Amino acid sequence: MTTHTEFAPAKINLSLRVGPLQGDGYHSIDSLVTFADFGDVLTFVPADKLQLEIVGPFAGELPVHDNNLILQAARALPQTTGILKGARIQLTKNLPIASGIGGGSADAAATLRGLNRLWDCQLKVSKLATIGASFGSDIPACLHGGWLQMRGRGEQIENLPPRPSFAALLVNPGFAVSTAEVFGRFDQMPASDPSSATEHQNDLSQAAISLCPQIADVLQAFSEICEGADRQFMCGSGATCLAGFSSQNNARKAARDLQDQHPTWWVQPVTIGQIPPQ
Ligand code: C5P
Repeated sequence: MTTHTEFAPAKINLSLRVGPLQGDGYHSIDSLVTFADFGDVLTFVPADKLQLEIVGPFAGELPVHDNNLILQAARALPQTTGILKGARIQLTKNLPIASGIGGGSADAAATLRGLNRLWDCQLKVSKLATIGASFGSDIPACLHGGWLQMRGRGEQIENLPPRPSFAALLVNPGFAVSTAEVFGRFDQMPASDPSSATEHQNDLSQAAISLCPQIADVLQAFSEICEGADRQFMCGSGATCLAGFSSQNNARKAARDLQDQHPTWWVQPVTIGQIPPQ
């Protein structure tokens, strides 16, 4: 039987500038995005009905629910194509839930890609991105992959030439953070000075830290423990943070030191920016 496998890599906002709240309830953003070589894995097998099974390290924190983004994606495709078929979908959940690295959006994008192939819908990436944008702002970026600039509420994608990849650690202190709540808190905070923006500026950092102070502990640990970390910032709406290194060896050594001192944290060595566009 045909089995399609799709990789759903972690999305990394290398910078994230956030504008004011718009009339549609979303914020305009401007973000440089690429992907890690680590993520969830989905398999798709033909079946009579739609079925979803979740396994893997974070499966316990993500019960199969009707509003799961994977099932939303699977239901959205027939609405556009009229192709009504079933599929048995298995998600191996390797990424922490609600962690600012786009796990749910990556899963939805992988589902649109996987079912487009399994059901032979023959939709282009741009069409899949339009479908995905209707139920998740980060889904178009996850469909395009590679390196890109993301604008609007996330649906405007400018594909960029690849930039040098780099070794990094992704670290999550073990607290789920709601994206909607972080944006809500952002609206209550004083506006930042745009002229003082740094290369890896994330405008959501202060809002996320005020909701989840453990993010500041991770950033503090980066500066205290991670010798040779050349860049450090919070990812997306948090709580995952990234430390970049000049070599995989330095990243792996820092990972061991961090994990020794913080055994409950999720610490994952990765390469950023190496995965080609989809
Ligand atoms: O689109 P998505 O469902 O991932 O967004 C989750 C929440 O994050 C939205 O309901 C909205 O409150 C907030 N959001 C926003 N502006 C964006 C993206 C998301 O305010 N550009």
